[in-house]
Amino acid sequence: MPHALVFDAYGTLFNVHSVQARCEALWPGKGALLSQTWRARQLEYTWQRSLMRRYAPFSQVTGDALVYSCELLGLKIGEQEKQALMDEYRKLALYPEVSNAMKKLKTKRAILSNGSPDMLDPLVAQSGLSFDAVLSVDELKVYKPAPEVYQLAVDRLKTPKEEIGFVSSNCWDALGAKSFGFTVYWINRAGAPLDRLGFQPDRIVKSLDEILL
Ligand code: LAC
Repeated sequence: MPHALVFDAYGTLFNVHSVQARCEALWPGKGALLSQTWRARQLEYTWQRSLMRRYAPFSQVTGDALVYSCELLGLKIGEQEKQALMDEYRKLALYPEVSNAMKKLKTKRAILSNGSPDMLDPLVAQSGLSFDAVLSVDELKVYKPAPEVYQLAVDRLKTPKEEIGFVSSNCWDALGAKSFGFTVYWINRAGAPLDRLGFQPDRIVKSLDEILL
């Protein structure tokens, strides 16, 4: 087991698709599609803004991606609906095994997330989980998988990268961390194919508790 574990947040500890129920209530029959489209566009905007060197906080990117996705799918969204869905993002559900697995964990642990503090801090606070550090890309103004983001964890945890294990369900994030030099655990909950980015995770697991075995 590495000296410290660093976790991605959205999609790894927290299920971003817990917004689906609220989407479905607002636009019956469209909840799943909106949730998927919203998440995909949110990530694309992070990469595009990083390449453009036009950082905007994750809260803005997430709101912009929502408005775009609604327009794409022909769903009328006003300020009230947007606010309601953005609020959902601050109380996303944990994946079922996460709380127990975290209790058993003996190493130092941190979150390293694209989330801006205005979204990430309330989310972590209501989750009941505790961490040695909750780190956001916001202080660097560039998104994952830029290597300087992973370096932030090294600096803050004062732990060499060789001693850090990085845990993500987002394959591109796992491979970005591997490219940087972490030991990487990819939680492949969905049985997705490995992204072809020139790297392999050190371990592929189906859920967080498998990492502890
Ligand atoms: C995060 C995104 C990648 O939490 O899900 O950083």
